[in-house]
Amino acid sequence: MQALFKISYGLYVLTARTNKFNGCIINTLSQVQSAPTRVSITVNKDNYTTKMIEETGVFNVSIINEKADFSLFERFGFSSGKTTQKFTGFTAFKMSKNGLPYITENTNAFISCKVVSKTELDTHICFIAEITEEQVLNDINSLTYDEYFKSVKPKPESKGKWTCKICNYTYDGEVLPEDYICPICKHGKEFFIKK
Ligand SMILES: Cc1cc2nc3c(=O)[nH]c(=O)nc-3n(C[C@H](O)[C@H](O)[C@H](O)COP(=O)(O)O)c2cc1C
Repeated sequence: MQALFKISYGLYVLTARTNKFNGCIINTLSQVQSAPTRVSITVNKDNYTTKMIEETGVFNVSIINEKADFSLFERFGFSSGKTTQKFTGFTAFKMSKNGLPYITENTNAFISCKVVSKTELDTHICFIAEITEEQVLNDINSLTYDEYFKSVKPKPESKGKWTCKICNYTYDGEVLPEDYICPICKHGKEFFIKK
């Protein structure tokens, strides 16, 4: 399935409202028709946001820009509204005309949507929707999924260690550079063993 990793996506905060506000991160927004305009989102059936959209038939999508840091993803993409209040202590939002929140910081536009049809997949639901409101917030480039992995999502800490067989000096890092020379005894890479 390697070819699928070559598909480019944007990143979005999908928001909904029932008796509370909630939202999740998605990468699956597409414009699927232009006259009349239709967009699609594909969301996991287990997401709390999905249940809220099924119940109300409306949602907002805020388009994340390149200034976003990991805290936005942590808040909306790594916990569920089933057990957390994602809008508690969060002030970077305003209300659109449909009464739903949209995100005002680290985003460059939002659209308000009304569901016109849905397709049930195995694990996900694909909602097709019309646009009821849209607004550009700034001209900062949209963040891509690729860039999120390259520069927004923290890399797991390297647990690698290499020890010099000659003097026991330890180098911290998963990969020992090709031209590495031990700073203590001046032996080359071939004298190091991975711990
Ligand atoms: C970068 C990223 C992209 C994501 N894309 C999607 C997506 O396209 N569809 C989806 O259902 N969940 C996606 N998720 C996962 C949801 O954001 C996540 O499961 C969230 O906690 C669901 O929250 P909720 O239960 O409050 O709706 C993504 C998460 C991240 C971090």
